[in-house]
Amino acid sequence: MSITGKATAVAHPNIALAKYWGKRPFGHNLPAVPSLSVTLAGLATRTTVAFDDALAEDELHLGGHPAAAGPTRRVSGLLDRVRAASGRTERARVTSDNDFPTAAGLASSASAFAALALAASTAAGLSTSPEGISDLARRTSVSAARSAFGGFVALRSGAPGDETLPATPVAPADHWPLRVIIAVTAEGPKDVGSSEGMKLTVDTSPYYAAWVTDAPSLEERVRAAVLARDFQALGSAAEASALRMHASAIAAAPGLLYWTGATVNVLSEVRRLRARGIPAFFTIDAGPHVKVFTVPEAEDEVTTALAAVPGVLRTLSATPGPGAHVVDPAV
Ligand code: PMV
Repeated sequence: MSITGKATAVAHPNIALAKYWGKRPFGHNLPAVPSLSVTLAGLATRTTVAFDDALAEDELHLGGHPAAAGPTRRVSGLLDRVRAASGRTERARVTSDNDFPTAAGLASSASAFAALALAASTAAGLSTSPEGISDLARRTSVSAARSAFGGFVALRSGAPGDETLPATPVAPADHWPLRVIIAVTAEGPKDVGSSEGMKLTVDTSPYYAAWVTDAPSLEERVRAAVLARDFQALGSAAEASALRMHASAIAAAPGLLYWTGATVNVLSEVRRLRARGIPAFFTIDAGPHVKVFTVPEAEDEVTTALAAVPGVLRTLSATPGPGAHVVDPAV
């Protein structure tokens, strides 16, 4: 066995304040709507890539266990792009660990593919500009494009003829010290993955066209609110984005309902907190958990209230954080 290049990278999940849901019909994994997210500190994926000329196939270990064929194929797809760009032909051994639950709508694909893109490009000796890493990650997982950068990050919608589409930074992590409290409402992977869920929505939901028409103005409202640090304006635009995204999915055939009773309980609690004058708003991705944004002064009160909601198993807490970065030395 002989390792010809090795690197380790860390990336963090991101939570979209203006959601992406649905792809353009002209290939290249281009999003149909613009999105804007915040990259989180407090949750992390750590990935090591070792190119090895003794390997006959790429190997993937997730959380200490050999991965199934599906995830391994997705990883190989990204590695194939890195091999094509660098002229390498070796297969790679990839080990990846999350310090948070995977595949349950906690944005694990975003941090996973951002970390993989950076570790693989570094191990192969390619240039590793954040734009290049973002575009490479986006080709496998659109939301991963945003985790290449820290803080508040935007990704425009794809246009015909787009060869590359990286995310762009909007404001650094210290622009606005928001708190994100994740109300975990289920263990284990979600039933319908986001790619499959999007395809079902695009193909069958009569509300999908309305979502695509409406989403750009929500992204503009989110962007303006972030730049102005206007919590109330951000909350109303971000909640509208999450609810309209889910409305388009719920209207698919068969209807795609990522929520459980516990999800709805948390939404009601956030509205009760707000009625009592406590700053809080929610967002929901392709899973049953609820992410609640608040300000540092209200963090303890919001966390206590969410932990007491029926069906909430536990809470995780995060703040705006850094983009993907290489960890030295590779381990
Ligand atoms: O790119 P994916 O497959 O991780 O899709 C993510 C979609 C949402 O998380 C629901 C929204 C978003 O913009 O992150």
